[in-house]
Amino acid sequence: MEKERKLIIAGNWKMNKNVAEALDLIQGLKRELVQVKEVDMVVCPPFTALSEVSKQILDSNLRLGAQNMSEHSGGAYTGEVAAMMLKEFSVRYVILGHSERRQYQKESDELISKKALAAHAVELKPIICVGETLAELEGGKTEQVLATQIRGSLAGLTKEQMGETVIAYEPVWAIGTGKTASTEQAQGAHAYIRSLIAKQFDDTVARRVRIQYGGSVKPANARELMSQPDVDGALVGGAALEVRSFADIIKNSI
Ligand code: 13P
Repeated sequence: MEKERKLIIAGNWKMNKNVAEALDLIQGLKRELVQVKEVDMVVCPPFTALSEVSKQILDSNLRLGAQNMSEHSGGAYTGEVAAMMLKEFSVRYVILGHSERRQYQKESDELISKKALAAHAVELKPIICVGETLAELEGGKTEQVLATQIRGSLAGLTKEQMGETVIAYEPVWAIGTGKTASTEQAQGAHAYIRSLIAKQFDDTVARRVRIQYGGSVKPANARELMSQPDVDGALVGGAALEVRSFADIIKNSI
């Protein structure tokens, strides 16, 4: 399948896997995916497994991502992790503003934009998550919510930084529920997000930005979702916790 942009498929392990389990998973993925060149593949383990996973994937085609970071570069922020600390483990990507953090940690668009700027300052690529809740979907507010989240969480980025940013469209009602957005819903939301980026930045940047879909992505629905023109990859939760399902999502997307 010829795509305009190289697919980027990332596994968000969330708060799962101790070090031994993380190493098992990564060894299996390395074995299964050694031949893959067509897709940028990223794993995002919890902070506590970054060091060991990092060592295992140095010589592989897998890249490392983190699930969050501080907006500050260092100092008296107990419990926080700075972007430069992630760089020590060869982390290349960082998920920002996941809906779980927006919901449980009350992360705002303004905070997410500060984190995105802090990530770019050390050449970490942010994966910025946006998406509407079920109530917002049912209230016909999807576009309004996406417009607010995109405007706010990308505020202050230069065009160059935007070009190096990944967006993940994750409708909250599809996360961990087994309910996937239809291909039309996903394509529609992705095209809309791209049009917002074109307005906020420019057409060239908008054409370059990769927009992942996230929410109950499985081997069985990956091919159809990835075949949509504005769907440039996936951010996978539950199905990224097993070698078989994550590897099959990637293989089915090629
Ligand atoms: P699921 O794939 O488990 O629905 O999770 C999606 C997600 O939140 C990825 O960030």
